[in-house]
This record gives sequence, structure tokens and C-alpha cells, in this order.
Amino acid sequence: VNTADVYRLAQRARAKVFSLGLAPSFAEFGPRTVIDPPLRLVGERSIAIGADVYIGAGSWLQVVGPSALTTISPALVIGAGTRMSGTCTVSVAAGVDIGRSVLFARGVYVADHRHAFADIDLPVLEQGIEQVAPVVIGDGAWLGEHVVVCPGVTIGRGAVVGANSVVTADVAPGSVAVGAPARVVRTRARV
Ligand SMILES: CC(C)(COP(=O)(O)OP(=O)(O)OC[C@H]1O[C@@H](n2cnc3c(N)ncnc32)[C@H](O)[C@@H]1OP(=O)(O)O)[C@@H](O)C(=O)NCCC(=O)NCCS
Repeated sequence: VNTADVYRLAQRARAKVFSLGLAPSFAEFGPRTVIDPPLRLVGERSIAIGADVYIGAGSWLQVVGPSALTTISPALVIGAGTRMSGTCTVSVAAGVDIGRSVLFARGVYVADHRHAFADIDLPVLEQGIEQVAPVVIGDGAWLGEHVVVCPGVTIGRGAVVGANSVVTADVAPGSVAVGAPARVVRTRARV
């Protein structure tokens, strides 16, 4: 047993203990689901996470409120077997539904709202939020490093989104979309 083995074991044990302690605070927290700390967390009572989910270190899950906007319950759903590699952000005002076995690379950002910025005389920070519209990410989708998903977007089942893409419009199931704004470049084939 070398230092790397001990380190990995200790990391895994810490994440497991952290997750077991945190589990009762959520609307739902499936068996074998692991969240690796540190975690920034707001509104956990409105977050339902399925079984066998992994959420990597440095992630930020939040349901902002209490809010009249939060009409979908639970506001954030993360389906079974989904994996967020780390430093991912999911910020929810109305509803975000992430399917089963979805893969987020590091640094993915998903929000169903944005900062309002109409008033030039006010700091953006003080203008509240706008464009509140639910986001859906279908089963088996893969979002590459640092993908940004904008309000109101539906990413279809099995879609792939290339690294650093900004998804401003719906992506059809099984398609590959890249760029800012993301455009579909091809459709995945059945092999
Ligand atoms: C999208 C991706 C998977 C490649 O898919 P692909 O279907 O093989 O696509 P191709 O490489 O044939 O590229 C198709 C076109 O999209 C462009 N493209 C590919 N990835 C792109 C990206 N991330 N941003 C912008 N354009 C991209 C290519 O340049 C090519 O353009 P062209 O037709 O004008 O030459 C890959 O480029 C990518 O972004 N991978 C993400 C890797 C990652 O984040 N890994 C984390 C591990 S969880």
C-alpha cells in the first residue's frame, strides 16, 4: 500500500461519510450516491438525486428562493447514474431536470434563469434575475468541459455537446452540437 492508495481510500471514505451525513437533508438521495466535498449547497429540500449519482468536488447546487417562481417540485432532479465530474454548477429558480446516466465534464454550468442587466445605471448584481425558464437534459447525454446551458433549453436524450459550447437553443436527441452558440454538426449513428 503506497501513499496514492491511502490518499484515494481516504478521499473516498471522506466523500462517503459526507454524503451519508448530507442525505437526509435532500428531497431524495438515492443509495450509493456520492457527493465529493467541498460542495456549495442551497435549497437542498427541493433537490432530488437518484441512485448511483456522483457529484465531483467543488460543485455548486442551488435552488434559489424561497420563490414564487419555483413551481416545479422538486425543483432540481438529478437522475440515477448521472455523473458530474467536478466544479459543476446547477442553479435553479423554476426547474432543472437532469436525466439518468448523464455525463457532465468539469466546469459545466446549467441555469434556468439569468441576471437581469437592462439598467445601465445599476450594477448587474442588484438587478435580480430574468428569463426564468426550465431546463431539461435527456438521459445519456454528454456535456464536455465548461459547457454553458442557458435558460429554457432542452438537450435531447443521448445528445453530445462539445467542450466550451454555449447552448442557447434546444439540441435534438442524439445530435452532436458544438460552439458558442452551439450548432448541431451531426447526428449519432446506431453501431
Ligand atoms: C464534440 C467532440 C466530442 C467531437 O465530436 P465529433 O462528432 O467527433 O466532431 P468532429 O471532431 O468531427 O468535429 C465536427 C466539427 O465541429 C468542430 N468542433 C468539434 N468540437 C468542437 C468544440 N468543442 N467547439 C467548437 N467546434 C468544435 C470541429 O472543428 C468540426 O468542424 P468542421 O466541420 O468545420 O471541421 C469533441 O470535439 C469535444 O468537444 N469533446 C469534449 C471533450 C471533453 O470535454 N471531455 C471531457 C471528458 S468527460
